[in-house]
Amino acid sequence: MALVSSTPLLRAARANGYCIGAFNVHTLEMLQAVVEAAEELQSPLIIQSTVGTVKHLGADYIAAAATVASNRSSVPIALHLDHCSDFDLIVQCIRAGYSSVMIDASHHSFAENVRQTAKVVEVARAAGVNVEAELGKVGGVEDEIVVAENEALMADPGECAEFVRLTGVATLAPAIGTAHGIYKGEPKIDFDRIRAIAAKVDVPLVLHGGSGIPEEQVKRCVSLGMAKMNVATELRIVFSDAIKEVFAANPEENDPRKYMVPAKKQLKLAAMEKMRMCGSTGRADDYRTWLK
Ligand code: 13P
Repeated sequence: MALVSSTPLLRAARANGYCIGAFNVHTLEMLQAVVEAAEELQSPLIIQSTVGTVKHLGADYIAAAATVASNRSSVPIALHLDHCSDFDLIVQCIRAGYSSVMIDASHHSFAENVRQTAKVVEVARAAGVNVEAELGKVGGVEDEIVVAENEALMADPGECAEFVRLTGVATLAPAIGTAHGIYKGEPKIDFDRIRAIAAKVDVPLVLHGGSGIPEEQVKRCVSLGMAKMNVATELRIVFSDAIKEVFAANPEENDPRKYMVPAKKQLKLAAMEKMRMCGSTGRADDYRTWLK
């Protein structure tokens, strides 16, 4: 089937108390691996690319590959642009066929974040594309930010409600204590804050920094209203480690069709594990109820 907007997928997830894994991919094999995982578990899927990957591969190549994967697949798949602060690039990705985009203006003031997000919502709405925005500031790529000491970075529940009202954004990523990258200890998730935000905001919420969050914490986040979990670093490590193992055992290997095989398999298994954690297995048809 054709790529679908992530809006109905995520509304169905929030309404039914599960979460959808959104996996960052950087190569064709990574994209194929996460699609195979979704197909095998009959799970809805969000494929993501970062701005860096768009620059590396091209939005058109990525959208073409995701479209082929989706056309061949029996499960609903959305293609999402992760963390983008460049309006023109967002438009380029929508034109290329992305069905979901994130405008990240969280480093600006609240008013400017509202202004930029509303502008993207207007463009995306015409194309039937989902928009995600961020409030507060999710910790950096390195796991250096101890969130308890950086309360100012957390999303404020009242502001979240105001933000959704002013922008009309369909999905919201509030900073609640997770961070991008691998955690050194356990993540310090502010569950009360998720509860307070979810009480005020009925759009699906997005959990960033999904790598390394223990299963029981993921489940708690989902039970409180998180409907999308972004996972990037962990999958990249699994994929790369499998390639390193091939070369450690056989330094002469020079056929990508061979050394990519174990990497693809390990990535598929890792994605399946996250889907089970998210509770999205067997949920491929739920979104139909939420199509307009
Ligand atoms: P991780 O790299 O920690 O999995 O975070 C992914 C993410 O949130 C992308 O937006």
